Amino acid sequence: MSTIVIYKTKYGSTKTYADWIAEELGCESVDAKNVKIEDLEKYDTIVYGGGLYAEIINGVILLTKNMDKLEGKKLVVFSTGITPLKYREYYDKMVIEKNFKPEIRDKFKVYNFLGKMILDELSVVHRTALKTLKKIMQGKENPTEMEKLLVELCDANGDFTDKNAINDLVEYVKNGLSKY
Ligand SMILES: Cc1cc2nc3c(=O)[nH]c(=O)nc-3n(C[C@H](O)[C@H](O)[C@H](O)COP(=O)(O)O)c2cc1C
Repeated sequence: MSTIVIYKTKYGSTKTYADWIAEELGCESVDAKNVKIEDLEKYDTIVYGGGLYAEIINGVILLTKNMDKLEGKKLVVFSTGITPLKYREYYDKMVIEKNFKPEIRDKFKVYNFLGKMILDELSVVHRTALKTLKKIMQGKENPTEMEKLLVELCDANGDFTDKNAINDLVEYVKNGLSKY
């Protein structure tokens, strides 16, 4: 059974999780920028991690656009983000719908972890994007719960990474049945 962990990160939290997972699984963790789809042929299990940016799992398109080359493999994806994990509808509906077309949804086992957002570390582009999003959400007349939450999250500032969060994923890779 050969496994690889691939990650795409802007500020480091996805790499942190990828390294923890790879250590537990006794395999390599590799930056997605050094991975081509052809390189994945030799692996039975592929774990992919990316930070959430406007609900998109950064770089997961590497897998979702290449399903024909991944047949027979066990595919596991994890996101890192700052939306509290109790908002299951956000993760199980919005994030899934934005990243996986209906016909490939059941090919992936998806996990969600809390990441890190340190406002002082953000690029100017990201800081401006959050400011704009906050303004738009604050301008809503009858905001939904999700829109109210987004306003709060634009100011979230902290490192919420947690090594224990990887346990279910690690267990699944070690023992779970192949899905695809
Ligand atoms: C511009 C921007 C957009 C973001 N969008 C989301 C989002 O849609 N959902 C979420 O939960 N977190 C969101 N975040 C928080 C990041 O996903 C979080 O900081 C993550 O840990 C980043 O991972 P990385 O540093 O490995 O790229 C956003 C952060 C920024 C700066």
